[in-house]
Amino acid sequence: MSTPRPANRVLGWLHDRAPGLWTWWNRHAAQYYAPKNFNFWYFFGSLALLVLVNQIVTGIWLTMNYKPSAAEAFASVEYIMRDVEWGWLIRYMHSTGASAFFVVVYLHMFRALIYGSYQKPRELVWILGMLIYLVLMAEAFMGYVLPWGQMSYWGAQVIISLFGAIPGIGDSLTEWIRGDYLVSDATLNRFFALHVVALPLVLLLLVYLHLMALHEVGSNNPEGIDIKKVKGPDGKPLDGVPFHPYYTIKDLVGVGFFLILFSFVIFFEPTFGGLFLEHDNFVEANPLVTPEHIKPVWYFTPYYAMLRAIPDKLFGVIVMFGAVLILFFLPWLDRSPVRSIRYRGPLTRVLLALFVIAFVSLGWLGMQPGSELQTLMARVFTFYYFAFFITMPLWTRIDRTRPVPERIPAHA
Ligand code: HEM
Repeated sequence: MSTPRPANRVLGWLHDRAPGLWTWWNRHAAQYYAPKNFNFWYFFGSLALLVLVNQIVTGIWLTMNYKPSAAEAFASVEYIMRDVEWGWLIRYMHSTGASAFFVVVYLHMFRALIYGSYQKPRELVWILGMLIYLVLMAEAFMGYVLPWGQMSYWGAQVIISLFGAIPGIGDSLTEWIRGDYLVSDATLNRFFALHVVALPLVLLLLVYLHLMALHEVGSNNPEGIDIKKVKGPDGKPLDGVPFHPYYTIKDLVGVGFFLILFSFVIFFEPTFGGLFLEHDNFVEANPLVTPEHIKPVWYFTPYYAMLRAIPDKLFGVIVMFGAVLILFFLPWLDRSPVRSIRYRGPLTRVLLALFVIAFVSLGWLGMQPGSELQTLMARVFTFYYFAFFITMPLWTRIDRTRPVPERIPAHA
């Protein structure tokens, strides 16, 4: 993929010294052929990139005034909010950004689910995506501890103590994670190091690999049709368009809509009624006073509901982690001969709709105090969650499918 030397003198100078940059740009943008029928659901990949950049930039600025010690952390966040110029904006961009990250990533994953994007040959793209999801959860959990509010402290206490359920090594493992006999200054310090340096580096690397893995095999699309099968005389897929400028421009529309919504939340409802930043977290951590109702932030609540639904602690922990781990196996659980839901039968549609209901309901249940009825509901939905995946090889095989056309139809 050689490119002509740019006429611009500066670019020409750069081209002579690093022609590989142009090769890279062509391979991943100007001559990366993406299916021509991307829809709404395809905005969320680029939006996830945008939020990632937002988190890194606002995170760097927060670090300039944040103090990672149990004695000073809470006050330093208050100082950022009240005294640092535009500090409130930077903090709310970061805290709202964390929730926006999960909104975008959940929609991005759901897109993969409805269009079968994880199926062969994109298994690696999916696995790297799942690793991103895991690291993102660890990153968000540790970030929430940093303001050292009541929920930071007690949330960390509850989640770390879960490791204590592991037979034999449980107690020494929790002590090792905390670096102390209880959540303390040592815990806050190591979480700061991981949240600010280690995990963002891992995240950036994984995102790069995720995109490179995708570009090796090419993007899927809402029809689930392989566009590489039908090529023109020039060797380019007939149903593809160069990513740049077609999708770089189209993605800007998504960015525009996203920024409007994002700004609305930051300026008018930054805590989102206690969903993005819990009310208890505006009270400084106090190891002697347990909040009345400890619960994680909304993006963890489906798994938290599963944990609480199981009476046995160890089994609850296994179910909670199992719920995330099972997603890794999706490419092998789905045995359908077609990718997209558009060519699948009624069984898949009904079971998928029920899955969404179960997952969202679990999310809601995880925020509730947990009455008897709520616990029963959480058990039913947890059962459905696992049954959906475990029986998937069966129902994806027996469901009716429609033949997939060779080319992307004009109406798609
Ligand atoms: C920081 C988080 C993430 C970023 C920045 C990111 C970025 C992207 C981008 C830019 C694309 C190409 C555009 C698009 O298809 O929307 C993509 C595709 C994809 N991503 Fe992600 N992603 C992230 C997390 C995830 C997660 C958590 C999963 C699933 C577990 C995932 C699974 C996929 C799949 C399967 C595709 C291919 C979709 C297709 O071709 O239809 N991604 N990602």
